[in-house]
Amino acid sequence: METTTTVFNDTFATDVLEGLSSTPKFLSSKYFYDEKGDAIFQQIMDMPSYYLTRSEYEIFNTHKNALLQLFGPNNEPFHLIEFGAGDGLKTKVLLKHFLSQKAYFRYLPIDISENVLSLLTHGLEIECPNLEVEPLANEYFEALDILNKQERNERKVILFLGSNIGNFEHEKAIGFLRQMRQHLNPNDLLLIGFDLKKDPEVILEAYNDKEGITKSFNLNLLDRINQEFGGNFDTSKFRHSPTYNPLTGATKSYLVSTEDQVVTLEKLGKSFSFEAWEAIDMEISQKYSLSTIQHLADRAGFQVTSNFFDKNKYFVDSVWSVK
Ligand code: AVJ
Repeated sequence: METTTTVFNDTFATDVLEGLSSTPKFLSSKYFYDEKGDAIFQQIMDMPSYYLTRSEYEIFNTHKNALLQLFGPNNEPFHLIEFGAGDGLKTKVLLKHFLSQKAYFRYLPIDISENVLSLLTHGLEIECPNLEVEPLANEYFEALDILNKQERNERKVILFLGSNIGNFEHEKAIGFLRQMRQHLNPNDLLLIGFDLKKDPEVILEAYNDKEGITKSFNLNLLDRINQEFGGNFDTSKFRHSPTYNPLTGATKSYLVSTEDQVVTLEKLGKSFSFEAWEAIDMEISQKYSLSTIQHLADRAGFQVTSNFFDKNKYFVDSVWSVK
């Protein structure tokens, strides 16, 4: 079957087949972000209960000057490189401040989505007309490889915001950070956002809003699978069920089948049966303690230079140098 071979080469198809064939079943949250998913995530960031974005925004507003002193002391030039650019709402706080201080820098947002990058770049042309922007439409480390081959002399300052690192399990996070370390020079810096452990109720509220926005964020992946692989997931037969484990800091989202059912993905020629109350593991959003952050830095070959908090201490932006 021709069509089956072609789609099998696609990593999305391979990952879906692997995840739904496993015990327990899982899907990767990296596939949440299609056009619809991007729009739902925007809504999530606007929810009163989703404190992460507002906390990091507050940190940038409060500490933008201290950050500039770390990134470009004595007006030394630097490249401000953002992993996963998004809409740049938080980053703009820094960009505008750095421009107002006549800092000698350039902004390089990296995102695999050309669409996301061009939206961001056009917005910046209007809001920050004097900013030098160099968008990079690549995978993160490919983009760094390209910059490294060009032997630029400027210090690299990498931004990895929003506790995006929390979507990795512990060992995967260390692997990712080690890879980051291998792409940096001794003088480069990493600013990384971590969501901190806090009152479990505050955390659960952020992932279990009454409006059902986070639920639709999860269910959207089933819709996406239906569209791309001719699937017949009935989203009304799945419950959204988030949990927080205060021992490990793992915040997990599951979709739970409310009955015995069989789901078929026509274009992949496969069916999957669900028992009543069987779960699909959808997402991890890890919450951290300061000692865990220290440990991650150590294991990945970094040194923690400074930590910046919001006034609630809900979130930390940690600046790391190379060890
Ligand atoms: C974008 C990965 C940081 O884990 O908090 C929001 C995604 N998931 N609500 C997070 C998300 C459910 C978010 N990150």
